[in-house]
Amino acid sequence: MCGIVGYIGERECSFLLLDGLKRLEYRGYDSAGMAVISNGKIDFHRSQGKLYNLEGLLRSKPIKGKVGIGHTRWATHGAPSEKNAHPHVVGSVAIVHNGIIENYLLLKRELIKRGACFLSETDTEVIAQLVYFYHQEGLNLEEAVRKAISRLKGSFAFLALSSKEPERLIAIRKESPLIIGLGKGEYFVASDAPALLPYTKRVIFMKDGQMAILSRGGLELKDFSGTPVPFQAVDLPWSPLMAEKAGYKHFMQKEIFEQPRAISDTVRPHIDLDKVEIFFEEFQITPNELREIEKIWFIACGTSWHAGLVGKYMFEKLCRIPVEVDLASEFRYRDPIINKNMLLIPISQSGETADTLGGLRKGKASGAKSLGICNVLGSTLSRECDCVIYTHAGPEIGVASTKAFTTQIALLYLLALYLASILNKIDLERKRAYLLDLLKLSGQINTILEHAQDIERLASKYKWARNFLYLGRGIYYPIALEGALKLKEISYIHAEAYAAGEMKHGPIALIDEDMPVMILAPKGETYTKVLGNMEEVISRRGKIIAVTEKDCREVKEKAKDTIFIPSTNPFLKTILLTIPLQLFAYYTAVFRGTDVDQPRNLAKSVTVE
Ligand code: M6R
Repeated sequence: MCGIVGYIGERECSFLLLDGLKRLEYRGYDSAGMAVISNGKIDFHRSQGKLYNLEGLLRSKPIKGKVGIGHTRWATHGAPSEKNAHPHVVGSVAIVHNGIIENYLLLKRELIKRGACFLSETDTEVIAQLVYFYHQEGLNLEEAVRKAISRLKGSFAFLALSSKEPERLIAIRKESPLIIGLGKGEYFVASDAPALLPYTKRVIFMKDGQMAILSRGGLELKDFSGTPVPFQAVDLPWSPLMAEKAGYKHFMQKEIFEQPRAISDTVRPHIDLDKVEIFFEEFQITPNELREIEKIWFIACGTSWHAGLVGKYMFEKLCRIPVEVDLASEFRYRDPIINKNMLLIPISQSGETADTLGGLRKGKASGAKSLGICNVLGSTLSRECDCVIYTHAGPEIGVASTKAFTTQIALLYLLALYLASILNKIDLERKRAYLLDLLKLSGQINTILEHAQDIERLASKYKWARNFLYLGRGIYYPIALEGALKLKEISYIHAEAYAAGEMKHGPIALIDEDMPVMILAPKGETYTKVLGNMEEVISRRGKIIAVTEKDCREVKEKAKDTIFIPSTNPFLKTILLTIPLQLFAYYTAVFRGTDVDQPRNLAKSVTVE
């Protein structure tokens, strides 16, 4: 939710900041701005809308300077507009901010009484006003920022500049991510790694409650009381190319086509096929502790929640252990019965989703052990869980999650097999067969991707539908939910998913000749039941698009259009079924001319509640 970037060094920084913002645009894209210290003064531009507006401004009125900050916004307080865009500049002070200042109204009233004149409707402006106020009273920038943050409630990562101290950039982190990139005689700051990758891989992940004071000569890290804290630099495991489109039209398209690689990178390091063994070096929970676990509890949001739903079927079936799955935003505000024998598994691509972090903190406070599934090294989730296992999807930049989802499922499958072995719920031969299936999966995904054009043709046929129904049963129901979410978030077609058996309890009333129904109908336990559901749709003149396997003759006969996936075990079919649904949503959105990578009203990581 909002991306921030900063630079201090020897380079002209306005286009460097712009480049960083472009790489963070997925975090928010309703307005943008930057401030640079130019000849001892703050020079700044802001514009409503996408970054190309800011770029246009920069080209027509360049701003020069070697210390600067930038921002791309996803509005929370105050509509998207030029005056609400960041930076907020008050006198000598400029601020860009990601997060929410919960007590901003109180502070605003107090500051107005003291003579402050507010120009925006944002919560962020109180930071700028406060820092300016204390700075004016004689505190240096560092002290003024420290005093200001002692007054703030909420979550914030922000960068501060002062024209009175032109050789300094201050970065603050509390519950919103911030990374410092280390160069030679220069520093970069950003909300997320893709903005840093072209410049440096050497980074420091700032921790909550830290302030960084950056100058060309060096870096100091302090806590909010001003005491220096030790820090450690690490190398990012990603290459700059991973954050490029690499010839694809959209990041989403690239990320769909990357899935064979992403899945294999995620699971391969954990498998020794000769010994039929799965190992997780990251695991801090001993086999004995695992044997004592009475319940597994997945918490997540959006697509990651769908992965948790798939996980429930896998863990219950393979490990015979009770599993709960909660939307993190619900979990954190109810009174779940948790104890130390529960394993909490928060799932998050970004590791920064506010509700998932809130749920994790709640679960930990009640004594549960926590095992995070996450895609971003150094993220808050990865630091706060007792242990974390990474999906190695690489940076996911398209707002619609694709490769993060399938790598999450692949990892959950492996974890379920691992736990099933520890609990003696699976014999060696079955385990070997399941592992072999997993190793074949990337090739099978490639087979589906090779036929992407068929799905593109289908998308062209249905592109003007106003509504869509997605149906699936059992473990395929969460895939129906995911398919519908993909379609609605990028094509803006209203799509609803139902457990197929539930259709006759209400949604069937919606079916007529204008209602296309995407039905997941692979072979398996519920196959004949789904055939029955198809009949129910047909007799109400609904048009069926079925995703099924080659030898499912009955499905082909009933459906108007059919997409085939290769055969594998039921758990992994979830991944194979997902690929055509992603492609269908992608091509539909392209035909409808929507902004595929940055759909309206959305942001990649939702770091506010
Ligand atoms: O980073 P996370 O996995 O925690 O994000 C959770 C959701 O915000 C995310 O999956 C969202 O639903 C995606 N836009 C779906 O495509």
